[in-house]
Amino acid sequence: MPATCVVGLQWGDEAKGKIVDLLTERHDIVVRYQGGANAGHTVVTGGETYKLSLVPSGIFRPEVQCVLAGGVVLDPAALLEEIDALTARGIKVAENLMLSDRAHVIFPWHFEEDRLLDRQCTSGEAIGTTIRGIGPCYCDKVGRSLAVRLGDMYRASFRGQIEQIVEAKSRGLAGLGGTSDGVRIDADEIFQQYSEYARRLKPHVADTTAYLLDALEADRKVLFEGAQGTLLDVDHGTFPYVTSSNSSGVGVSSGSGVPGRYITRVIGVLKAYATRVGGGPFPTEQDNQIGQHIRDRGNEYGTVTRRPRRCGWFDAVAARYAARLSGVDVLAIMLLDVPSQLPELNICTAYELDGRRTTDFPGHVDDLRKVVPVYETLPGWQEEISDVRRMDDLPAGAKRYLDRISQLLDRPVEVVSVGPDRRQTIFATRVVTV
Ligand code: IMP
Repeated sequence: MPATCVVGLQWGDEAKGKIVDLLTERHDIVVRYQGGANAGHTVVTGGETYKLSLVPSGIFRPEVQCVLAGGVVLDPAALLEEIDALTARGIKVAENLMLSDRAHVIFPWHFEEDRLLDRQCTSGEAIGTTIRGIGPCYCDKVGRSLAVRLGDMYRASFRGQIEQIVEAKSRGLAGLGGTSDGVRIDADEIFQQYSEYARRLKPHVADTTAYLLDALEADRKVLFEGAQGTLLDVDHGTFPYVTSSNSSGVGVSSGSGVPGRYITRVIGVLKAYATRVGGGPFPTEQDNQIGQHIRDRGNEYGTVTRRPRRCGWFDAVAARYAARLSGVDVLAIMLLDVPSQLPELNICTAYELDGRRTTDFPGHVDDLRKVVPVYETLPGWQEEISDVRRMDDLPAGAKRYLDRISQLLDRPVEVVSVGPDRRQTIFATRVVTV
């Protein structure tokens, strides 16, 4: 049975959670395969707003199985907090949430390392991480010696593992400038605390790799939910201003253990404009009234950190690169209601780099910093469109804008979102499903 993947094509925050939420009713299983509590998903349903970081958006449908696969880095405290908050609001989180025994676990030292290392970024500008310990946890995963996987926490060796790691980490943190006030790295305390987390999480822990392969072989419908966005991919994004996982479509297989041949449909999610949070080049950034207009209307503040997001024009060069890299079949354009009322809209269709015009996305951030966007200007639309439910009822300016994006990215637009609610969604004639 084919599987579907929903992936962001910008620098994250493309409102993927809404698309995943809409698609879950046609799927049996929803899988997060990378990232951790750095992600923020907002789902509005039944007039209620839910903010999720780790739990997949499928949790709102009790019949859907949610999986955090082995490629995710897991902060048990953040996860339990999220589970408790959902439970308190009547959302059932029981056997419908499954956690991979191979997922790596985030510990207090990872937060400290994140804070200390971000300041020391050799590229000058800070990466501006979410300080959720994501990068340091992935470092330990690749380094192997100081890593703990969820499954390790249930073994007799766990205590000795913690003692050894705490000793090494205490030395390492001292070398980086020490821990901040109030953070104690005490092996016994951490062992007790994490044993309690392990006890509470135990009913959810499973071999999700085997589970997913069995499910696909049994023709069950699987939806992969990408976190962050393609341009933040550690291998293919705007390195080093990226996250530490494969947040593009290429990460699905390594993160979940599911071979690429099962993934037959990739939905690329884009905002109708561009945003970025944290450091790094952003060629179409509008640090002016236009950017502020977008920030105000789109409530462009980080779901996790509340940082104001940097806002700018739609960058078709970057988006086309992302769509190709992530193997996107169809596009979902989100927040089309936000740029309403602008007299005209710009789309970046090419870059000027060292006097040469190109539609290739540069591989080095120094080049991306230098590019000058080449803009095409389209007329805007003045109407509010949040009540529109059919493509044909969109103002001419909005239709033309969507058509141009579709043309530049060489992919059809299948879904358009005009507001946060499930009902504020326009589907093209084609059906978004597997
Ligand atoms: P980290 O993932 O916390 O290490 O942060 C690395 C970079 O990715 C920073 O620029 C963050 O702002 C950015 N980032 C991480 N997660 C998200 C997200 O979910 N949305 C948008 N940006 C993110």
